[in-house]
Amino acid sequence: MRWIKVKDYEELSEKAAEILMKQLESKPDSVIGLATGGTPIGMYRQLVSRFKREEISFARVTAFNLDEYIGLGKEQPESFYSYMEHHFFGHVDIPVASRHIPDGMAENLEGACEAYESSIEASGGIDLQVVGIGQNGHIGFNEPGTSFQSRTHVTELSASTRRANAKYFDVKEMPEQAITMGLQTIMKARSIVLLAYGHEKRDALAQLRTGKITGSFPASCLHEHPNVTVLYGEESEGEG
Ligand code: F6R
Repeated sequence: MRWIKVKDYEELSEKAAEILMKQLESKPDSVIGLATGGTPIGMYRQLVSRFKREEISFARVTAFNLDEYIGLGKEQPESFYSYMEHHFFGHVDIPVASRHIPDGMAENLEGACEAYESSIEASGGIDLQVVGIGQNGHIGFNEPGTSFQSRTHVTELSASTRRANAKYFDVKEMPEQAITMGLQTIMKARSIVLLAYGHEKRDALAQLRTGKITGSFPASCLHEHPNVTVLYGEESEGEG
């Protein structure tokens, strides 16, 4: 696991965008795994401005998002579908057919999970997966206790995750479940970059640094992966 400390959020976003750009330079038809949440917003901003400056094209990229809330339709602003449209997909040239987000409105959720896993496999597998980390150590929405062998599945969001994400919702409408890539799905990616920024992530990062592998801290599975970069930093004065 390679740890890279950044001085501020801008640098985190630039470095994350550079890792993605390098990946696309070496393989323009890369399969990329993407995350939502507050942390990668700056990275998407960077990628969109580089696209607008014609420094990069995503035309041959296939994208798979980590997760989606169950019960939120595409048109709902809090869905990860809307997030991706707003921050990234709506501004770049990834073909619509090459953008994949789990379907939180599927009638057959188990079937949707299986289909998601199959389409990742059919694409040749994920070359570079971007993940954030929850305060409880979740990656994707794999909450503490999730099996390291898990594939894309339906999960109950923990109280900690619901508290952390409540800021995006009217409290009564905060979903209780999500579809998420499993830990095994994430671990199958050929490389992984974990983004963590801010004091809320300090304890989770300290736990990750111990190197202890335990099901009660899902991100710890990453110690068994040969190619993980952790980009991290704390707020500098005036931020946050
Ligand atoms: C988002 C996801 C989550 C977030 C994590 C951190 O697609 O899978 O694991 O990465 O909850 O979220 P932020 O960046 O909002 O702190």
